[in-house]
Amino acid sequence: MACSKAATYFCTATICRNAFFTTVNNTDGKLAGSFSERPFAICEIGFGTGLNFLVTLLAWSGAARKQIEKLQANQHAGQLPQIRPLTYIACDQLFLPVKEMKTVHANWPELAAVSSILLAAMDQAEWTDNACTLKLDLFPADNYARLPLAPVTLHLIGGEITETIRRLENGYLKINAWFLDGFAPDRNPAMWSEAVFDGLKNDSAPDATAATYSCAAHVREQFTRAGFAWEKTPGFGKKRFMLQASLLMQKNYNT
Ligand SMILES: C[S@@+](CC[C@H](N)C(=O)[O-])C[C@H]1O[C@@H](n2cnc3c(N)ncnc32)[C@H](O)[C@@H]1O
Repeated sequence: MACSKAATYFCTATICRNAFFTTVNNTDGKLAGSFSERPFAICEIGFGTGLNFLVTLLAWSGAARKQIEKLQANQHAGQLPQIRPLTYIACDQLFLPVKEMKTVHANWPELAAVSSILLAAMDQAEWTDNACTLKLDLFPADNYARLPLAPVTLHLIGGEITETIRRLENGYLKINAWFLDGFAPDRNPAMWSEAVFDGLKNDSAPDATAATYSCAAHVREQFTRAGFAWEKTPGFGKKRFMLQASLLMQKNYNT
């Protein structure tokens, strides 16, 4: 879909708004690891239209593609690019139907390729107990050396967050970056409840960071209670401020 000038501005603004989560959490920098490493794990609370996931996927596939091209140019085509596998855990009360997501995604032509990969996978998803796991192969039709297996795993977990947050304790990786994209606390207290912040505390990897557009005193207090240092920074567009947080405590963890 061609963007009008106004729409282009809107598209860019919205993409930037969504890129905030990857920027604040420095996901690009942290993805520069290796395939032998444990996957980089992101948990988004409030998946909605999936735009944050698409922006992340675009960054991930762009970095992987650059590395593959570099290896090919240097005639090391057999080598694996230095990028960590990605695991993305998306929580939402209710996931939108694929048809609706497709309509929304059509406003962002720059996301078309990653959107079609996501939506094709969601179309085939097999749900059990309100959750499913999708394996995404980002380079299926390219001439590039194929990456081993599907290096991006997307877990979708449906249901009320105060309940689903507990599911992260079993069978999921500890989280390196939290994208907290729920509605504001006055409109949606459950999203910012103690149960949710207990989940952040219990299910974070030692280097965990978090980002949110909500700077309410309640949110700041909950971060402190959960062992995160937080910083209020200038906002973007209509958002005057943002909050970035990082885990202070070092804990033992196995996954
Ligand atoms: C601001 S929207 C998220 C936008 C999304 N990140 C995007 O890029 O399109 C907030 C999302 O939080 C979800 N949500 C709100 N309250 C919730 C709750 N109590 N438990 C789980 N999900 C909730 C809504 O369904 C909605 O999709």
